[in-house]
Amino acid sequence: MKSVQKQELKNRTFLSILAGIIISYHSRIVRNACLYAFTRSIKKEMEIKEIKANELDPETFIKEKITEISEIIGEGTAISALSGGVDSATVTMLGHKALGDRLKTYFIDNGIMRQNEPEQVVSIFKELGVNIELIKAREEFFNALGGVTDPEEKREAITQTFYKDVFAKLLKKSDAKFLLHGTILTDVEETVAGIKRQHNIFEQIGIDPEDVFGYKIIEPLVQLRKDGVRKVAKSLGLPDTIYNRPPFPGPALAARVIGEASPERIEIVRKATIIVEEELKNIDAFQCMAILHNDKLTGIRNGKRDFGLQIEIRCWDSVDARIAKPTRLSYEVLDNLSERITNEVPNVVSVTYNIAKKPPSTMEAV
Ligand code: XMP
Repeated sequence: MKSVQKQELKNRTFLSILAGIIISYHSRIVRNACLYAFTRSIKKEMEIKEIKANELDPETFIKEKITEISEIIGEGTAISALSGGVDSATVTMLGHKALGDRLKTYFIDNGIMRQNEPEQVVSIFKELGVNIELIKAREEFFNALGGVTDPEEKREAITQTFYKDVFAKLLKKSDAKFLLHGTILTDVEETVAGIKRQHNIFEQIGIDPEDVFGYKIIEPLVQLRKDGVRKVAKSLGLPDTIYNRPPFPGPALAARVIGEASPERIEIVRKATIIVEEELKNIDAFQCMAILHNDKLTGIRNGKRDFGLQIEIRCWDSVDARIAKPTRLSYEVLDNLSERITNEVPNVVSVTYNIAKKPPSTMEAV
């Protein structure tokens, strides 16, 4: 009996040691995987050699990038995703010069862009001799955004829908194995630092796009910041409406809706955005925007209680978006904005102007 107990004790001891080894081995694997992704991301960030706008010779940069793109793609084809912003427009033009018809460019109408933006961008590029195919994907994006309120989850939903659903399907239909991407250095830094998951960052945070999505990503602008990209865009012959275009975030108006970005709430912020952009078009600012808040406020309309919405206006002075301060708008300008927004955007009873700097604020609200 004693020897049976001893044997059982031995077995138990053996099993608990084994379990301990497995647990510590497993947690070491998990830890090592995290460490690998982390060091890889830091390494990747450190490997990127910044080209400052004042050191940039756009002509030389363009020649080098055209050669690089041609060499990587060889006789193959590539795809570009145009959003209308200066980064994706510049990368599309570089790709067009390097590959001609072997570059296929898409504009994804995700339903969260500004008023008429898809049609306007397609027509600007048509005039430049670049054909853009407009892909309607509104439903896919709103399905993914339904019920999502957390900022990072919202970004992730947009990223997954864009790269995994919409784009992977488009790439499957074509024989392209490469996606040209307008990632810039600021996007990489803010994502690696964990400030905001910029929708276009993969390799730098340890994600291999080829494994996950089935295609390689080429990032010709990753050494530049916004001011450098603008110089390149101008040198490429892009029109002023593009190279001086105020930045617009990848997650589009969803980055400006606090809480769920439903079609109805996107429509409200879209209407407010038209007004903000019209009223501030002559202000020399880096970027201005309207943000829809999630909380409702008590207001009064036609002598009755109106439990309504709140719009926050932000207008930024900045050089490269790393730091920014609110533009000192005159009270008259602010007053016009408030009058128009409360009169023209249904259900809005409160308009505020953000006066905090970045940092600690960020430029977009989400
Ligand atoms: P933040 O909000 O990070 O914005 O201070 C800095 C600049 O980057 C633009 N931008 C983005 N912002 N998610 C963002 O939050 C994105 O995916 C993104 N893409 C571009 C933003 O509009 C501002 O100019």
